[in-house]
Amino acid sequence: MQIKSAEFVMSNSDVAKCPKNRLPEYAFIGRSNVGKSSLINMLTGRKSLAKTSGKPGKTQLINHFLINKNWFLVDLPGYGYAKVSKSAKKTFQKFITQYFSLREQLVSAFVLVDIRHDPQPIDLEFMQWLGENNIPFSIVFTKADKLKPKAIENHIEDYKTILLETWEDMPNYFITSSSKDIGKDAVLSYIDELNGN
Ligand code: GTP
Ligand code: MG
Repeated sequence: MQIKSAEFVMSNSDVAKCPKNRLPEYAFIGRSNVGKSSLINMLTGRKSLAKTSGKPGKTQLINHFLINKNWFLVDLPGYGYAKVSKSAKKTFQKFITQYFSLREQLVSAFVLVDIRHDPQPIDLEFMQWLGENNIPFSIVFTKADKLKPKAIENHIEDYKTILLETWEDMPNYFITSSSKDIGKDAVLSYIDELNGN
């Protein structure tokens, strides 16, 4: 799929105020600093469409980006960032949970995990929660440029072992690097397919 246009539409913390039209959307979620905003920039080929930072906690709102005028990519705040105050964390959690529970336009989520780390309880619990709420998702392994191919393979095997303790099948997954443009075509083709093309 070719990205012909990518436009920022709105930011807000209230799912009720998200775009009202019925266009399909895809949301990126995962720990702070995992690379959600960078992935949106990589997929769209727009370097600073979504704001990124070396410091965790950059994205704080629900951000809608209209792609090719007929579907949305949604950038969300990260979870699991210890330095955010407790009340801010609660607010985030509330609107992230509301977004996933109420947003009927959401076709699929992408749960991002840093390929360098061992499976983390917070990510596994979030995937479990999505499953319990019948929200389809894929896993996106990020920062693949940071590991050698053999180490990537080993980490994916570790994930498979842990996930297969609770899931019947390994969820659909992608290996990506936003700095090296890895995985772009695979993710975009998948979205294209889900869009019915
Ligand atoms: P929050 O909005 O804070 O939750 O973070 P985020 O998940 O949106 O992460 P963001 O895209 O802002 O990236 C965080 C940091 O990781 C930045 O310094 C990026 O340059 C870096 N980064 C993101 N993707 C990659 C990647 O594929 N490879 C490498 N090496 N660094 C990456
Ligand atoms: Mg971000």
